Amino acid sequence: MEYSEKVMDHFMNPRNVGIIEDASGVGQVGNVKCGDIMKVYLKIENGVIEDAKFKTFGCGAAVATSSMATELVKGKTVQEALAVTNRAVMEALDGLPPVKVHCSCLAEEALHAALWDYAQKNQVEIQGLKAPVEDIDELHLHENVD
Ligand code: FES
Repeated sequence: MEYSEKVMDHFMNPRNVGIIEDASGVGQVGNVKCGDIMKVYLKIENGVIEDAKFKTFGCGAAVATSSMATELVKGKTVQEALAVTNRAVMEALDGLPPVKVHCSCLAEEALHAALWDYAQKNQVEIQGLKAPVEDIDELHLHENVD
């Protein structure tokens, strides 16, 4: 399996690892197939993501995609952050091997779950944001993850 230099960089030197004590929104999603768990913390002020951190019990691709995803959402409005899809993150990382695509979904879903948490707590509406899943298996991804 070949990983791009950017994936290796974000895996070896992940950005934004940690927790935010007074986070505006926290989201956690798992993947029952591989047993990995991702937790994302967002600090949001006036609808803008001021800080984003993550903690994961996950594989290298999950680390790299969460590192990139948290980098990409910082400074964006909560609405703009929705455009940071797993595809956008994979593109920013110059691609992932097909069997690792579901790992990037873990990052996206945990991010969405944190946005959802923020939206619920503050009674704001983020257009297009769906209720989070607890496990990305519920998304019924159609790629081979075995
Ligand atoms: Fe489980 Fe990557 S997130 S193998």
